[in-house]
Amino acid sequence: MRSLKSDLPPSNSHTLALLHPTPDEKLFIWNLNGQSWRGRLSLPAYLRRETYLENQDFTKDGGITFWILVDTTAQPNLRPILASCESLRKRALIAKGDGQVEEVISHGIGSVFCNPEFRGRGYAQRMIEELGKKLDTWQQVGNMMTSFTVLYSDIGKMFYSRRGWHAFPSSHIALPPVYGQDAACLPAMATQPLYTADLAKLCALDEKMLREELCRPTESERKIRVALIPDVKTMVWHHAREEFAAKEMLATVPDIKGAYIKTSAGDHMWCIWTRTFGSDEASNTLHILRFMIEGERLVRSSETKPIVLEPSNQEKVQAGAALLQAAQLEASKWDMRNVEVWNPSPLIVLAAREIKPAVQVIRRDESSIASLRWHGVDPEERSKVDWVANEKYGWC
Ligand SMILES: CC(C)(COP(=O)(O)OP(=O)(O)OC[C@H]1O[C@@H](n2cnc3c(N)ncnc32)[C@H](O)[C@@H]1OP(=O)(O)O)[C@@H](O)C(=O)NCCC(=O)NCCS
Repeated sequence: MRSLKSDLPPSNSHTLALLHPTPDEKLFIWNLNGQSWRGRLSLPAYLRRETYLENQDFTKDGGITFWILVDTTAQPNLRPILASCESLRKRALIAKGDGQVEEVISHGIGSVFCNPEFRGRGYAQRMIEELGKKLDTWQQVGNMMTSFTVLYSDIGKMFYSRRGWHAFPSSHIALPPVYGQDAACLPAMATQPLYTADLAKLCALDEKMLREELCRPTESERKIRVALIPDVKTMVWHHAREEFAAKEMLATVPDIKGAYIKTSAGDHMWCIWTRTFGSDEASNTLHILRFMIEGERLVRSSETKPIVLEPSNQEKVQAGAALLQAAQLEASKWDMRNVEVWNPSPLIVLAAREIKPAVQVIRRDESSIASLRWHGVDPEERSKVDWVANEKYGWC
């Protein structure tokens, strides 16, 4: 799979195509990108993790697709791999303001990589352009058109927006871990820990409430509301990643996956989290995958507005603070240096400020930029798209 650089075709060559790697080629790619992405895993452990992750309920049976840009005149296993990436099939919802909600297949793009020896030659650009065309109909029934696809850019907004994936709100709040004795002065509403066995029921309830929310008429200009479904397979895939890393590095597996609380009015609130073991301990982060607040009208869309602090919302702020506090306590147990909530709603920001009044919403410009491509043929439609529940669970 090696090649003299002088033998390489230009990136606009008609002989280049986006194909799927052979098993040996996939291993070659993992060996290469593992050098950048293995974090604190050894390379052999990284290779095992990738195999583990491609065999989860979310990814197996075509859930994940591996793509490579290659010269079609060269032989499989001998051809240089000019660039590589993956797409992950995601269940999604679309509402167009007519009271109907349609379930569709979307895709998330991940692991975009170019061999360091081949960089700067336009191969990554060509691959992304070819991928856009493939994803137009990829895995759709009867060659129907894909509605939208997403990715999370770690290289700013320009590279992908030029190829159709436009940046959407990408902000977060961060709270430090809290150790036992400091927790005493925080809001005292009791939360319940969530375990893997609890997630299927809550995710189903979440999906039901999300569908109902999307059905409601919107006053916004952005009439097309889309959401990735926060289903249990997605959560378990995130947890497979944290569990693999914890087992490898700490020889133990975290079992608490979130926290739950019910308000006096009977509204359910919960957060599901995952521990991200960073490339060094300082970057360990407990990410809230999904922060669910029953009855919150704006489910974290681009259109978040200040909330009215009616008594029911005041209690929700306190309950939200208790959930965040549970996350902070959990973070301290696993040496996570921050708790992050992506695109927090105004209510969650208020909850965080109950704990730490100086909390600011940080807008990201370079890393994890949530980006969405509207594949529909009508260019007018793109400007009307609102990404609802744009939270960490969608990341891949
Ligand atoms: C990002 C990556 C795939 C780009 O590969 P490449 O071969 O340099 O890309 P191309 O030659 O096709 O495209 C070059 C363009 O990408 C931009 N680009 C490349 N690396 C970039 C980076 N780290 N940040 C911002 N833009 C970048 C260049 O500025 C250039 O833009 P231009 O067309 O305006 O001049 C490659 O650097 C890589 O594998 N990096 C490590 C993994 C990674 O970060 N992947 C992206 C995850 S979102």
